[in-house]
Amino acid sequence: MAFLEVSELCKTYRMGEVEVSAVRDMSFTVERGEFVVVVGPSGSGKTTLLNMIGGMDTVTSGSIVLDGVRVSDYTPKEVTFYRRYDIGFVFQFYNLVANLTAVENVELASQICKDPMDAAEALKAVGLGHRLANFPGQLSGGEQQRVAIARALAKNPKLLLCDEPTGALDYETGKAILLLLQQTCRDTGRTVMVITHNQAFECIADRVIRIHGGHVAEVTTNAHPDSADTLEW
Ligand SMILES: Nc1ncnc2c1ncn2[C@@H]1O[C@H](COP(=O)(O)OP(=O)(O)O)[C@@H](O)[C@H]1O
Ligand SMILES: [Mg+2]
Repeated sequence: MAFLEVSELCKTYRMGEVEVSAVRDMSFTVERGEFVVVVGPSGSGKTTLLNMIGGMDTVTSGSIVLDGVRVSDYTPKEVTFYRRYDIGFVFQFYNLVANLTAVENVELASQICKDPMDAAEALKAVGLGHRLANFPGQLSGGEQQRVAIARALAKNPKLLLCDEPTGALDYETGKAILLLLQQTCRDTGRTVMVITHNQAFECIADRVIRIHGGHVAEVTTNAHPDSADTLEW
């Protein structure tokens, strides 16, 4: 059995009389420890897919099985614990708390977990050991995203979900963040899924899931993915 199994997954949003089918019959698998790139144009259903996998949105039909557990059947209470213990999230706009320092932002997440990493250690691991006492406003965009990654990793999640993590960053900083995510995946054996609209990122993935119009258009694997520091776009 694969680490993550998405089967015949659908999501329909109802807005009054109008129905929007954001995800239509998606099926794919991911193996433990893979670095996965989910790529597709804007509006193709990537965020909806990731939000369902991460327990931030309910499924309309179909199933999601993570590490042998059918998480799409979880009760609301179970979903709360699932988000808290099993999933790490990284967003485009970091979502840090402005009046807490870097280390306090990480502690905020680690305090609600069962077996967290030390917050300062997590920040050291992303190259921010010297920035523990800085507030988000005193950090660059790339540094703030590193804090957000440290915050997600400090939870020791089963799965790290990243929605356009380089979307707000300049070229070189974005590359450095991708390299950090790729190295984290390699060094810790953690399964990482990165959403992007940028096809150039495909070559650094172990597995590429191409999304179009709410469907999975194609799934491919790279036996020898490129290192993110060789990326150009
Ligand atoms: N909460 C929502 N309510 C209604 N429609 C939504 C909602 N979220 C997403 N959609 C629609 O679903 C489709 C897929 O959106 P999304 O998953 O955000 O795509 P992507 O992340 O690939 O840009 C879009 O047409 C979007 O407008
Ligand atoms: Mg999106």
